[in-house]
Amino acid sequence: MEVVAIPTETVYGLAAPLASPQAIERVFELKKRPANNPLIIHIADRSHLTVFARELPPGTQALIDRFWPGPLTLVLPAVPSTVPEGARAGLPTAAFRMPDHEVTLEILRQVGPLVAPSANPSGSPSATSPRHVEEDFGDVVPVVDGGVCPAGVESTIVLFCDGLWKIGRLGALTAEQLATVLGYAPEVVSAKVKEQPLCPGSLYRHYAPEAKLVLGSEEYSGAIPLVVGFSDRNYPGAERVLAMGKSTDPDEVLHHLYETLRLLDRIGATQAWVDIDVPHTGLWATYLERIRRAASS
Ligand code: TXA
Ligand code: MG
Repeated sequence: MEVVAIPTETVYGLAAPLASPQAIERVFELKKRPANNPLIIHIADRSHLTVFARELPPGTQALIDRFWPGPLTLVLPAVPSTVPEGARAGLPTAAFRMPDHEVTLEILRQVGPLVAPSANPSGSPSATSPRHVEEDFGDVVPVVDGGVCPAGVESTIVLFCDGLWKIGRLGALTAEQLATVLGYAPEVVSAKVKEQPLCPGSLYRHYAPEAKLVLGSEEYSGAIPLVVGFSDRNYPGAERVLAMGKSTDPDEVLHHLYETLRLLDRIGATQAWVDIDVPHTGLWATYLERIRRAASS
């Protein structure tokens, strides 16, 4: 069974049929992904949830009605007999999302649910275009070309815990957007609750280029000649500025984020100063989280 890269509105995914344990194993192998890091199950049909989820916590339906298809992943209690252990990495829960990409929705309608982690080797920046997948996997992985991913950053993962929805991974959907449905802004939870990792992926180094990233929350001093920053700001003395977009437009910045981190590798950069003088709300929270993770290695 072959593994294929598929486009989504967030990032490219490395897809395998949920029904094929061998293909799922191949996904882990290709990504060099730790076996205890579960995968997101992609579906085109909401009614699949009644087969795969043991229960739907309060608010599930409202979240799905408002945000599916779209960059929202829900972690739900899984029915162990219908969700293969490989996909959930042995956890009692499983993650589900309906991607907002017509090509992939059509594939899902035709072949059924697919597991799809981001199409990059574990730990490196995610792939947001067919070229990125080719850079990482050569001709080993065929790519369904759906163009450049509009969001450019992964889905937001939510889980229901102690009576409230919480954010396990910040992503393309903001806490503020979730609040419009939930009536409260979900707290961002990191790492572990009762020693159980909430999003096992959050334990690993992630999104990181080879270059050392120096986070700049204050004025640029010129000490590091290469800057990753914004097109409407000046960095006096910089030798080169890789601009991701305007400091007023987080959508544009996230759209170019992984492309820019990958560019650092392509030009063989060893060190870069990254502008993190941005607000802490909305999509900027996702920007800050990705940059911090990319810098901590
Ligand atoms: O936008 C996305 O979500 C992309 C596209 C391809 O859909 N996929 C993606 O998959 O980002 P991946 O494998 O790179 O990240 C999935 C994250 C991991 O951090 C994993 O630990 C978490 O989802 N996850 C999966 N199942 C989980 C579960 N049952 N409980 C908690 N976290 C889970
Ligand atoms: Mg990933």
